[in-house]
Amino acid sequence: MAKRTKIKALFENGQVGSEVTVMGWVRTFRNNQFIAINDGSCLKTMQAVVDFENFDASQIKRITTGAAIKVVGELVESQGKGQTVEIQVSNFEILGDSDPEKYPLQPKRHSLEFLREIAHLRFRTNTFSAIFRIRHAVTFAIHKFFSDKGFVNIHSPIITGSDAEGAGEMFQITTLNLKDVPKTDDGEVDFKQDFFGKPTNITVSGQLQAELGALALSEVYTFGPTFRAENSHTSRHLAEFWMIEPEVAFADLNDNMDLAEEMMKYVIRYCLDHCAEDLEFLQTRLINEEKSKPEKDRSPMPLLEKLSFCIDNDFVRLTYTEAFDILRNSKPNKKKKFKFLINEWGADLQSEHERYLVEKHFKKPVILTDYPKEIKAFYMRMNDDGKTVAAMDVLFPGIGEIIGGSQREERLDVLTARMDEMHVPQEEMSWFLDTRRFGTCPHAGYGLGFERLVQFITGMSNIRDVIPFPRYPGNAEF
Ligand code: 4AD
Ligand code: MG
Repeated sequence: MAKRTKIKALFENGQVGSEVTVMGWVRTFRNNQFIAINDGSCLKTMQAVVDFENFDASQIKRITTGAAIKVVGELVESQGKGQTVEIQVSNFEILGDSDPEKYPLQPKRHSLEFLREIAHLRFRTNTFSAIFRIRHAVTFAIHKFFSDKGFVNIHSPIITGSDAEGAGEMFQITTLNLKDVPKTDDGEVDFKQDFFGKPTNITVSGQLQAELGALALSEVYTFGPTFRAENSHTSRHLAEFWMIEPEVAFADLNDNMDLAEEMMKYVIRYCLDHCAEDLEFLQTRLINEEKSKPEKDRSPMPLLEKLSFCIDNDFVRLTYTEAFDILRNSKPNKKKKFKFLINEWGADLQSEHERYLVEKHFKKPVILTDYPKEIKAFYMRMNDDGKTVAAMDVLFPGIGEIIGGSQREERLDVLTARMDEMHVPQEEMSWFLDTRRFGTCPHAGYGLGFERLVQFITGMSNIRDVIPFPRYPGNAEF
């Protein structure tokens, strides 16, 4: 195809007076004269001006919303307000027609719920193109952050036989014929006949494999899809989500917190520096969306201010026990406003508690540490008190838990005792225990929920709107 110039490049450094070729999709066509073209390279549309007297009426009729078009013409300074340059069309070609009667995306405001139903087309809206450009920038920033520090990116397996979190929320995979499942003599499913010769699932976390890498390469991270069959219908849960899991040898919980805070600030700063136009658009979108909400449910700060605020302030660090005391004495607890009241030390914190701490009490991102061992995974390092583990959760405004991590239990005897207590089968995890048998060392890591971070940066209220094709209970469309 003939060379084209992306619209973003034309706005940035197009030469007025030169002949240019643009290809994209028609957003609107006004007065049989002004075509607004978007090619996804940036939020803005390029205005292409056609003199309809120079073209066949039958051709002009094909310029409809959604059609793919190629225009050739001179780049000129724009007369209209709001744009710097436009194209005076000398020639155009419709590359793909779009029937205006049938095209679902009309040039008007559509609800996010409706757009979710046509997720295959929602990339073509301003909101979703902005979100997915930002999602790309976040991906890139994360890789750059870790790569610049000398971390090695590890591709942990998607198919695995282990349940890293021990939470039993796994999607099983099998090639067995479900209509005629082979059985053993004692009536159990005979997984020996299955593809891998044993039960397997798609991974809930790459952590255990990242630990193996860290105990040789010393600083590694994964960035991959993870899957959880939890039946959660919330605005913060997906069945398929992406997770970033750094793992660092010769590091303790404090190093882990420092790394997490530095990473979050780096990535947010990167987006502010590289996605200003898209972020400003989403900020305005959010302000408009929240106009219909009662004052108390609106964001306390505009999006960009919220992002800057996170960079400019230290995250608050406190222990579970300190947070427990704050929550127990809090107004909503005393007035029985929490759905889950905080009475007994050891209770798991719910999203309402996390958000109270972050949004009402501290009004800053918070890192909670040293949780009761009963509510955390088997691999977390036991503290000297015998009651708590060296865990950390990073809590963000509007989101709640965005990162979960810990210092790892590197002592073989303590680890195996914990596994027995929590019924984690040691026989199947002997490869994992080998790191503790041969050259074990203090190490720590965490998992960042990628979509929750994109949600925070874009200000979108539902996690289903920051991943192209969301998977959640009852939905695996596209
Ligand atoms: O707290 P989680 O379960 O921790 C782990 O999986 C550890 N193996 C991480 C580690 O230490 N390497 O999950 C980590 C993060 C959560 O804080 C949350 O942001 C995100 O992953 N997350 C989800 N995001 C979307 N949908 C879900 N269903 C999620 N479950 C967890
Ligand atoms: Mg967690």
